Amino acid sequence: MKGSKFAVEGWSIVGFSALTIGIMLAVIWLIYGVDETAMRLAIRATARTSCILFLCAFVASSLRRLWPNIFTQWLLKNRRYLGLSMAVSHTYHAIAWTGLWWATSGASPGFDPLGILGYVFLFAMTVTSFERSAAWIGQRAWKILHNAGMHYFWLAFTFEFGIKIVKSAIVYLPLTVLLVAAMMLRLVAPRIQRKLVG
Ligand code: HEM
Repeated sequence: MKGSKFAVEGWSIVGFSALTIGIMLAVIWLIYGVDETAMRLAIRATARTSCILFLCAFVASSLRRLWPNIFTQWLLKNRRYLGLSMAVSHTYHAIAWTGLWWATSGASPGFDPLGILGYVFLFAMTVTSFERSAAWIGQRAWKILHNAGMHYFWLAFTFEFGIKIVKSAIVYLPLTVLLVAAMMLRLVAPRIQRKLVG
């Protein structure tokens, strides 16, 4: 990664994300305290940082196929670290919903089996993001796990944001449009590339 024009590469992306999102939460809790409202704000904020990091990893190879430039090269090269940063962000999401549980004396959040399944995917994908563990499960299993996990996250984010469009279109419509555009990009990128090459 030497000689790159981008200052943040590899593990520094994960460190930078952990620090930035950590500071964001500290600011929220300093300003609003640690009551239910503050915990809900922290949950929403971390869901959005996770979504942005997820999207970067989700579209990296499609963007690179269609627009080979220095930025898309950086995205693709650092896709693994963007995914790991999403895992860090979602760990903060878990800290925030544990905080909500504490602030409401166990009244909220309720049991969320689909959310828990998301964390199972996240955990499995994180531990297999290293050369040794990836080699241990094999290329085929790795592809199935990471493809299924990425599409599960896409569904979870699109559903969570999509159902809230009626509540606040100004916040949730752009997020939902971004997610739908990302999926369309992934679907059309290989076809467009084939046409360009062929
Ligand atoms: C990988 C799995 C998960 C994903 C992708 C995810 C994503 C999201 C998203 C996108 C939102 C909406 C944020 C917004 O309104 O801007 C959200 C809200 C929320 N999540 Fe998660 N989440 C996951 C797992 C969980 C789990 C396991 C729990 C706890 C049981 C949880 C608790 C909450 C709560 C309580 C809110 C609503 C906060 C509020 O608006 O007051 N999430 N999550």
